[in-house]
Formats: sequence, structure tokens, C-alpha cells
Amino acid sequence: MTQARESAECTWKSPSNIALVKYWGKRDEQIPANPSISFSLDRATTETSVKAVNRSNDGGISLNFTFEQQPNAAFEEKLKAYLTKAAREFTWLEQYHLDIASSNTFPHSSGIASSASAYSAVALCLCTLHEEITGNKLQDFYRKASTWARIGSGSACRSVYGGFTLWGKTPHLENSSDEYAVGIDHLIHPVFQTLKDTILIIEKGKKAVSSTAGHALLKHHPFASTRYRIAGENTAHLLAILKSGDLDAFVELVEAEALMLHALMMTSPTPFILMKPNTLAVIEKIKDFRNQSGIRLLFTLDAGANVHLLNTEHDNDQVQYFVRNELIGYCQNQSYFCNSVGKGPVQITT
Ligand code: DP6
Repeated sequence: MTQARESAECTWKSPSNIALVKYWGKRDEQIPANPSISFSLDRATTETSVKAVNRSNDGGISLNFTFEQQPNAAFEEKLKAYLTKAAREFTWLEQYHLDIASSNTFPHSSGIASSASAYSAVALCLCTLHEEITGNKLQDFYRKASTWARIGSGSACRSVYGGFTLWGKTPHLENSSDEYAVGIDHLIHPVFQTLKDTILIIEKGKKAVSSTAGHALLKHHPFASTRYRIAGENTAHLLAILKSGDLDAFVELVEAEALMLHALMMTSPTPFILMKPNTLAVIEKIKDFRNQSGIRLLFTLDAGANVHLLNTEHDNDQVQYFVRNELIGYCQNQSYFCNSVGKGPVQITT
């Protein structure tokens, strides 16, 4: 570094995303066992501000972290470990004291995954500060942000873009990579740009098994290699479906992916059942509704009990009526959270 800047600060607001082909299983430093495809949400976001102030270099990371205006020792420790890794690339990090403040637009304990929005927001801040502090423009800003979001949490690398995103090397997409996600919005039929994601909060609170522990279960899983093969095939199929606008094929593939994720957990050496009775009840209701109405309403699941309902804008009034009248009773405290396909992260300038 030539001339150290006294201070620099920035704020990014970044979304969560919902996977359609799931990332489940990894090796080395957050290298996925298979490619995954997701879209970014518009309302489930994390806003993170980082202020970096030059200090004498004592070595190590100097950090104060607040989450929703409160100190949070557990998150601070995780973030410190992450920033220590990030200092490999952002070498200025150890010469600055960092004040990081983060907050979510959704309740933290709602069971909605927050690591994707959280780490994508931090990684975007690191890239912006890097340009400001070093005076050097990054060659590919979003690729770099995606790479560092991935190191924080795998699925976070898909959150640095708006719309649809693919992460993981696949022969079916030329510029795909295990290191970072790429935007695939230009390959998507307009009907899928109108997707709605209504997240039904079946169970609030911490998940029974963390994603990190869940991924690790794949290491000695009897079906792991079959899963990785099918996920690769599903990636190819979904790319074709997303291009063609074939909603029926979309329903079939996305639901099968969600159930396979849960089936893997149920059949792992240490088995976990992540669905709750209300998860299954809602799935049954969705199938009945689809059969009776002909509306392509479908579900997907994260590694938890909550249900993501997906439908197109065209059907949204009927779906929302169905949610209010028939599904809300299965949700904890009747809570659900409506999202659309989001436009991706935004830098907040003050
Ligand atoms: C089921 O990205 O949370 O949501 O890399 O260990 O942080 P880590 O895992 P994480 O795993 C997400 C798993 C998933 C599927 C997906 O988003 O693709």
C-alpha cells in the first residue's frame, strides 16, 4: 500500500436467496459438491455498514460488531474468524479497526436463512472498501464479492446478483465456476421473472442442525455420489426449463429437489427429520390446491421446517387468498413473509 487512508466506510443491503437446485455437500474451502441454482429475494435482506479506521498495525483483526444495534459476541467471533481469512486477499484489513453494524429486514429467529444475505453484504462492503483504501479498481467486482461471500457461507455467493444465479462448475454453462456464482438472468423466460415466494414460518428459532453440520453429513453418506450426479442432471434440466418457461416441468423438478434434500438428511449416518407435522400438512394442501385449481403452485424447502411457496404473478391473488384462508393456521403465530424475485444488492449512499 502506498499511502494509507485514514478512514473509509460503506453500506450494502443484500438479499437472501432461495435455491431451486440445492447446494448440499462441500469440500475444501467451501467448494460445492454440485452446482446449484437460486433466485434472489426482494424483501429478505441484510443491511451492513463497515467503518474502517486506520490504526497502528498490531496484527490480527480489530473489530466491534453490533447486530440490530446490540453487541453480539457469538456473531462477532464468527465474523472475526471470517475476516482473518479475508485478510489473505484484503491485506489492509489488519491495519484498520473495523466497526461493523448489521441488521435484517426479517426477524433473526424466524428460521429464514440469514447467512446468505449477511455474508454477501459483508463481502460487498469488503470489495468497496478495498477499492477506496487501495485506490485500485477490482477487475471483476461482483465475482470477487461472490468469491468472498462464498468463503463466509456457500449460498451467500449466489446473493451478490439480482434475479437468477448459478454457482458451481457445470458443463452446461460456459462461465460457471466452483469459486463464485454467475448471474443467469439473461437465460430466464419472462414468466419466471414474475415468481413470488411466500415463506410460511412453520417454526421459528434455530434450526435443529446447522448447515455446516448438515453438509458434513454428506461426507459419509451412502447416497452422496448418486445425489451429486442427480443434482448435476437437475441443473442441466432446470437451465432448459427456465429458458423455455415450462411451468409443469418446473413444479416437478423443484419439488423433487426439496424432498431429496430432506431425504438425504433422513438417511444420513446420523439422521435428522427437519420437517414438522405442519410442514407435511402444508405440502398436502398445496398438492390438493394444485390438483383442484390447475394453478401451478409449488413448494420448496430449506434445511428446516419452513415452506417456500412459489407461484407466478398471474396466479398471486388466488394463491394469497388460499394462504390467508387455508395455510395461515399451520404457521407459527400465523406468520408468513411475501417476496418476489429481487433485483439484487444495493449500495446505500448517505
Ligand atoms: C439447504 O450456504 O447455509 O439452503 O456453506 O455451510 O454456510 P454453509 O451452508 P449454507 O447451505 C445452504 C443449504 C441450503 C441449500 C442452498 O441454499 O443451496
